[in-house]
Amino acid sequence: MNKKTTKRKPELWAARLAQKPDAAAFAFQASITVDKRLVFDDIAGSRAHVAMLGRQKIIPANIAAKIGAELSRIARELESGTLVIDYSAEDIHSFIEGILTERLGDAGRMVHAGRSRNDQVAADFRLYLKRITPELQKELSQTIFAILDKAEQHLNSIMPGYTHLQRAQPVTLAHHLTAWCCGLERDYSRFSDALVRMDECPLGAGALAGSSLPLDRTAVAKTLGFSRPTLNSMDSVADRDFAVELSSACAITMIHLSRFCEDVVLWASEEFSFINLAEAWSTGSSIMPQKKNPDFAELIRGKAGRAAGNLATLLTLLKGLPYAYDKDLQEDKESLFDSLDTLRSCLHMFRGMISSAEFNVKKMKAACSGGFMEATDAADYLVRRGLPFRTAHETAALIVRDCIEAGQRHIGDRSLAELKKRSKLFDEDIYRVLKPLACIKARDLPGGPAPKEVRRQIRTLRKRLAGK
Ligand code: ARG
Repeated sequence: MNKKTTKRKPELWAARLAQKPDAAAFAFQASITVDKRLVFDDIAGSRAHVAMLGRQKIIPANIAAKIGAELSRIARELESGTLVIDYSAEDIHSFIEGILTERLGDAGRMVHAGRSRNDQVAADFRLYLKRITPELQKELSQTIFAILDKAEQHLNSIMPGYTHLQRAQPVTLAHHLTAWCCGLERDYSRFSDALVRMDECPLGAGALAGSSLPLDRTAVAKTLGFSRPTLNSMDSVADRDFAVELSSACAITMIHLSRFCEDVVLWASEEFSFINLAEAWSTGSSIMPQKKNPDFAELIRGKAGRAAGNLATLLTLLKGLPYAYDKDLQEDKESLFDSLDTLRSCLHMFRGMISSAEFNVKKMKAACSGGFMEATDAADYLVRRGLPFRTAHETAALIVRDCIEAGQRHIGDRSLAELKKRSKLFDEDIYRVLKPLACIKARDLPGGPAPKEVRRQIRTLRKRLAGK
């Protein structure tokens, strides 16, 4: 059966032009190498369309049934490999219609009644995205769960929190990892939001102005699992904002991953030594025998650039396009497919890399010593004893300077008498307050790093993603 087709079939629009298109020009405008991945969605769309044509008596019911059965057969053959996509076809829509016509003759030639490739591609694209997006979200939720598992093991693992990449205030690894997950959970919901707006079926919009045939758009939409048909036929074939939204959701998620990877790259350096990446998730150097490189983290960081570029590609593609359909729109798929593929593989890799990594709890704790991360807590101590915060801030700053001058690394290294010289409000209990773990436990407001509070954050995220 049609295992290899070498001879090009006539184009769907061949009758209009006396001359055959130039081979190179035809190949240039063809899109089958990209839209081939819509093949099963195209078949699903055609089946719904043809069944409706039969019900509406636009074509005879027995012919509609025959075309429907042939479409199912084509799908099965493609799945089993007995039928392969013919890359000499112009696009996936022409390929499927061509096979139908080849096999069914005039019956196959009835399928395109009331339809244009313009509404067809818009429908196929949405069907595909509606199918793929939940798979991507699954990958995303599994990644979040894997990071939360790690976080739960490190509720009490103290580490410096940074601003300006300078040690700022002590936090825990759990707090840091949960921060990552908050971003990813919003990404998850961004995909869900995009799916809601995408849930309208363009079929029946035709080339741009609908059809004079009595199509039942609502029935087709229902059959294909859409909530309703699109409202306006021109909008249906002209706009691609659903693709932009998904591309944007992909880009934002990739930018998140890229930042997490930058954390990992830093943590994997000798200077930080907070993380020990599994050997299976590291690479070596071809020249420097000692090297163990965080290549996976770097590569994910690098690939985020592609996702951002793909979003810019789509936006630039749409900018200035006159309504309704323009061939430029054919360029919409490649960049989005690339973003979807890139994100999916990066999520998978990131998850493996983090799950298999070990954290160096001792090094993280040691990094909390020095750097005067307890200074804000000293100031808060004075505020609790009635001092205006600005004065407390100045007092703590002067004590930090005293420490530096005396070669001391912690405010707690100073005697109570020395501290009292700066403020009478200091008492013996200040030393307890200044311990890193005490600083963390005291920050138990909603959102804070206190272990019991982070446990609540983790529980909340898990609840939001339950069953997802
Ligand atoms: N391959 C085209 C695309 O992806 C299908 C629509 C073509 N329509 C047309 N009038 N040339 O956009």
